[in-house]
Amino acid sequence: MANPGSDIMANPGSDAKPVSYSRTTLTELMIPSYANFGGRVHGGILLSLMDKVAYACAAKHAGTYCVTVSVDGVNFRQPVEVGELVSLMASVNYVGRTSLVVGIKVIAENVKTGTVKHTNTSYFTMVAKDENEKPTEVPPLLLETAEDARRFLESMKRKELRANFAEHFDNAKTRMLLSENLHLLANERCMLNRLNQD
Ligand SMILES: CC(C)(COP(=O)(O)OP(=O)(O)OC[C@H]1O[C@@H](n2cnc3c(N)ncnc32)[C@H](O)[C@@H]1OP(=O)(O)O)[C@@H](O)C(=O)NCCC(=O)NCCS
Repeated sequence: MANPGSDIMANPGSDAKPVSYSRTTLTELMIPSYANFGGRVHGGILLSLMDKVAYACAAKHAGTYCVTVSVDGVNFRQPVEVGELVSLMASVNYVGRTSLVVGIKVIAENVKTGTVKHTNTSYFTMVAKDENEKPTEVPPLLLETAEDARRFLESMKRKELRANFAEHFDNAKTRMLLSENLHLLANERCMLNRLNQD
């Protein structure tokens, strides 16, 4: 049987860059000034570090300045404690024409006990910009492993589902008349005051 990927093999002259070329890891110690009032690390600190590593990874692949356009899958599964070492592992999962999706896995390690916890995996969509701030084409992605190919395919699916969701939600919003839907609030934990419907 022919290799299923043989018809999309990289040609020698292609400017495709392998996933491994831009793979980036950022490790940072969680210091006391990162803590919230509960003594754990602020979610915003982690988001900022994720944005930083996403930029480094995307800019390395694109070879140009990149901006963050959207973020998927930010669900913090476990809290991060002050004193833990947080590592953010980023790689380009997908490229479009001017956009790239950077997947970031975040782990937190307690160096005393050696315990490692996976706090979240998120996906940052970045767009490459030229010197006039216009979106500019990024190099194709060379998928070297089955894992690279799986992530690219998953990203395509996520993009399709996101577009479907946006379309359905926009349609639902335009059809949602306040007067016809107020009864849906009956079993929710809210109370209606006099509505100002200006
Ligand atoms: C993102 C931005 C460049 C899109 O500009 P635009 O004129 O709509 O450009 P395009 O329609 O050509 O889109 C460019 C790419 O962005 C992608 N894109 C645009 N909006 C998107 C969104 N909400 N989510 C995911 N991708 C998006 C498009 O699919 C396209 O990708 P492709 O070239 O790989 O197919 C523009 O909205 C922008 O500059 N936003 C501000 C980003 C920023 O400053 N971020 C930092 C926040 S402080």
